[in-house]
Amino acid sequence: MRRIILKKEYIYQGNLILVNGKNEIKQNSNDCDLKQYNNVILNYNVVSELEKILKEINNQNQIVLVSGYRSLEEQKSIWNNSLKENGEEFTKKYIAYPNCSEHQTGLAIDLGLNSDKLDFIRPAFPYTGICQRFRELAVQYGFIERYKENKENITGIANEEWHFRYVGYPHSEIIQKMGFCLEEYIN
Ligand code: DAL
Ligand code: ZN
Repeated sequence: MRRIILKKEYIYQGNLILVNGKNEIKQNSNDCDLKQYNNVILNYNVVSELEKILKEINNQNQIVLVSGYRSLEEQKSIWNNSLKENGEEFTKKYIAYPNCSEHQTGLAIDLGLNSDKLDFIRPAFPYTGICQRFRELAVQYGFIERYKENKENITGIANEEWHFRYVGYPHSEIIQKMGFCLEEYIN
């Protein structure tokens, strides 16, 4: 099989951008092509693909958008508030360190099943019902579940069933079929 070597600079741009504890974001918000969508801001491509999925599952506000694009300041404030409220162990598991969050790219979205007890950091997004229908369709529209169980040692983040990352199709399908996380795919 031919091996394609990705040059390091390509990891820092485009839909496959890798942002994690070891790869800080290098771009600024001007590079993110952002657009307001309901209560969140996202990359405009992500908005159009997300809209198609929500329409296809006839969402009608059963799934809500919890968190999309975050500026550095917002990520700092989420990190600091969580440190105070939840302690270091929890915070490191569920919040990326400022500049290490892919929410700063506009390509990540946290979704929650609508309820009056919606948690901002860990919204419920069960593997059943409309959330599962979303999940099953999402891959065809270029999204992956970014932080899967058993990948914590590679991603540095615990299982987050509510966090979806746009990588574009067919990357999304290959990643899912191979059972990879984004770090493994990029490698
Ligand atoms: N919850 C994810 C890891 C973030 O803060 O970017
Ligand atoms: Zn998230």
